[in-house]
Amino acid sequence: MTGQPTALRVHPGAALRGTVSVPGDKSLSHRALILGALADGVSRVRGWLPAGDTLATRRCIQALGIAVERADETTLAVHGRGLGGLQAPAAPLDCVNAGTAMRLLAGVLVGQPFASTLDGSEQLRRRPMRRITEPLRRMGAQIADTDGHAPLHIRPATLHGVAHTLPVASAQVKSGILLAGLFADGPTTVSEPGPARDHTERMLRAMGAQVHVNGFIVTLTPGPALRPLDLTVPGDPSSAAFVLVAALLAGDGDVRVTGVGVNPTRTGLLDILAAMGGPVLCERERLEGGEPVADLLVRRADLRGTEVGGDLIVRAIDEFPVLMVAATQAVGETVVRDAAELRVKETDRIAVMAAELRKMGAEIEERPDGFRVLGPQRLRGAAVHGHDDHRVAMALAVAGLVAEGETMIEDAACAHDSFPGFAETMQALGAEMEWCAHD
Ligand code: S3P
Repeated sequence: MTGQPTALRVHPGAALRGTVSVPGDKSLSHRALILGALADGVSRVRGWLPAGDTLATRRCIQALGIAVERADETTLAVHGRGLGGLQAPAAPLDCVNAGTAMRLLAGVLVGQPFASTLDGSEQLRRRPMRRITEPLRRMGAQIADTDGHAPLHIRPATLHGVAHTLPVASAQVKSGILLAGLFADGPTTVSEPGPARDHTERMLRAMGAQVHVNGFIVTLTPGPALRPLDLTVPGDPSSAAFVLVAALLAGDGDVRVTGVGVNPTRTGLLDILAAMGGPVLCERERLEGGEPVADLLVRRADLRGTEVGGDLIVRAIDEFPVLMVAATQAVGETVVRDAAELRVKETDRIAVMAAELRKMGAEIEERPDGFRVLGPQRLRGAAVHGHDDHRVAMALAVAGLVAEGETMIEDAACAHDSFPGFAETMQALGAEMEWCAHD
């Protein structure tokens, strides 16, 4: 739905309560398709996320000759053709807005015996790609880019196992390199400065790949064929984040989100909220398909400001738009540092969130690597803009729940890039939120 002239109207005042689930994890859904394509045989995936970003990956995989059967929207069978089974695509592969698709697929495509081109939306063309093309070139990859940006034109090459040290913790870059490592002539090592999400390592290992992890150093030794996956994708903790913060700010009784992934590389927000006086309880913790899963329980709380930096940043990297909203309602000072990465996401999330929340009356101090907010602040409903950035649009919707008067979020259809059914999920908890078409 991205690009459609659809706005989200939000009214405050409703007290949220109830039990909901959120759609499948976006990171795992991309990976299930890409790794499933490389497996020897049929991977079964349940709870897959049918969202803008992951549908782009599905089209790319299909264009590479992989059949993807659908029992229903969230249940897929990926007919993997083995490490040597991909076919040359007839046209450039369109990743639309999905940075994960582009950076992971780059790793796979540099190891193929055919040429290919990775491209995407204007938004994705603005995002930095040197962080993935440079390490891949060090392995021998042949990639022509446009001044460090997409489109990426890839030609066949012989890849060598290389040891990489990443300057910034990034799961996309780590994963792209490890995937290229599957096609290299020796072991590939990635050292990262912090705990970037480790879904690729877990999934590769479950498929029989030789992956060795020692602290923040991962080594992949190529060789074995990959076994197909049998995976139930847990709910996306980055989608649950909007529900959790909404419940903390506007809850009335228990709000429960069932079946959410709680991989420790993804639970930074829970730690930050606990430090702000808004604990989220993990119930029925279990392991599903090698990933920890829990039901999350939260109630309204009076939040206080906190300081966030270091390893917490990468463990909560997608949650800062909604955290900025929480900070406006917390008593005292919230300071986020070490988070310059936020400036190269779908948008510059520091600048964009600060600008949009200012339209609602907030005072936000932007910093090169983060922001400072002194709360609590009164927010006024306003006309704001989602900037085709799903997490910005949804964070502004949460802000609208605690503002005075109506908030209208233009260009909010991008919520479907990661969280189809966002407004409906919030409505199920009692929130007043509805889509409205604009001419
Ligand atoms: C992702 C990694 C993160 C995250 C993105 C998904 C992934 O990006 O922000 O939404 O699935 O690997 P970086 O690797 O650029 O930090």
